[in-house]
Amino acid sequence: MTTVGEPAADTGLVLGATRWSVSGRRTLVSNSARLEADVREGLRQNPPTLPARWFYDERGSKLFDEITRLPEYYPTRRETEILLNHARHVVTLTEATTLVELGSGTSAKTRLLLDAFSHHGPLTFVPIDISVEVLTAAAQRIADGYPTVTVAALVADLDDPLGRLPGAAGGRLVAFLGGTIGNYNAAGRAAFLTRLRDSLDAGDHFLLGADLKKDPARLVAAYDDSAGVTAEFNRNLIEVLRRELDAEGLTPVDFEHIARWNDELGQIEMWLRSVRDVHACFRAINLEWDLPKGAEMLTEISTKFELPSLHAELARHGFDLVHAWNDAAGDFSLSLLVAT
Ligand code: AVI
Repeated sequence: MTTVGEPAADTGLVLGATRWSVSGRRTLVSNSARLEADVREGLRQNPPTLPARWFYDERGSKLFDEITRLPEYYPTRRETEILLNHARHVVTLTEATTLVELGSGTSAKTRLLLDAFSHHGPLTFVPIDISVEVLTAAAQRIADGYPTVTVAALVADLDDPLGRLPGAAGGRLVAFLGGTIGNYNAAGRAAFLTRLRDSLDAGDHFLLGADLKKDPARLVAAYDDSAGVTAEFNRNLIEVLRRELDAEGLTPVDFEHIARWNDELGQIEMWLRSVRDVHACFRAINLEWDLPKGAEMLTEISTKFELPSLHAELARHGFDLVHAWNDAAGDFSLSLLVAT
């Protein structure tokens, strides 16, 4: 494991009474190799498709933050409501000593868990994210705000094997919030759950936020807001490709944002439709790409779940249900599971 941020992973840094560190396995090189692989693989498919991870450059992360506050985008508010009501129950049901957060971002909602844990006893917090910058800032803020919590941030891609997660067997609680599990398709979800189970011991806990099926009109509105923020978020993917791969003939304004409910697969889909014939040259990887006017590229899926089948799927992957909580409107669910 190499150190990618300050302070050094092997020494940590003492900030007042709190130690925090950022470590990880990723480098810029492996990042651009993965982008190249994703683009080569994704753009030759029919329809072309790209993994959602490339949304989250600095601008994309800010736009996503804005999305979470939009009136139409209910998941963040609903999950916050559940955590406000039940974080203390999570603490008493798990008695965890290590809280691992997958895809932690700014760790905003996790503060509700940290608040509940900090009344309980010593805790190590392990936020895991793909972005060193986001992690370093979050680790610093959490360390400042929670003097009794040890913060050991980890830079990692959730699509890579996680290895054994930090913490004592049976004392880990892994939180995967926000409904991000929905951004995997069925095969990706199965692979993710297998990786996660392999990184844990029996008796460890898993706290999973999942968005639930509901009126498709509400779902579409949540992904096609009236202020156009989600459209900007979607089109920003084109800007990421243009910048990172030195592309010519590719610009965000050549694409329109589409959000669609796919009833058969139970998922919201975000697409980008070209408004003119696109002929792009990705100079950094020596690749040309044509997309005729009116053709569409799939940029994200967001699966919406029914709890019985989600819990059955989790049980098949070695996670048994301990308790599930919904918000009052029944829009979103938080499930606590135990590794068997
Ligand atoms: C990160 N993830 C859970 C969001 C979702 O709702 O699927 C990403 C998102 N895309 C557009 N709006 C929000």
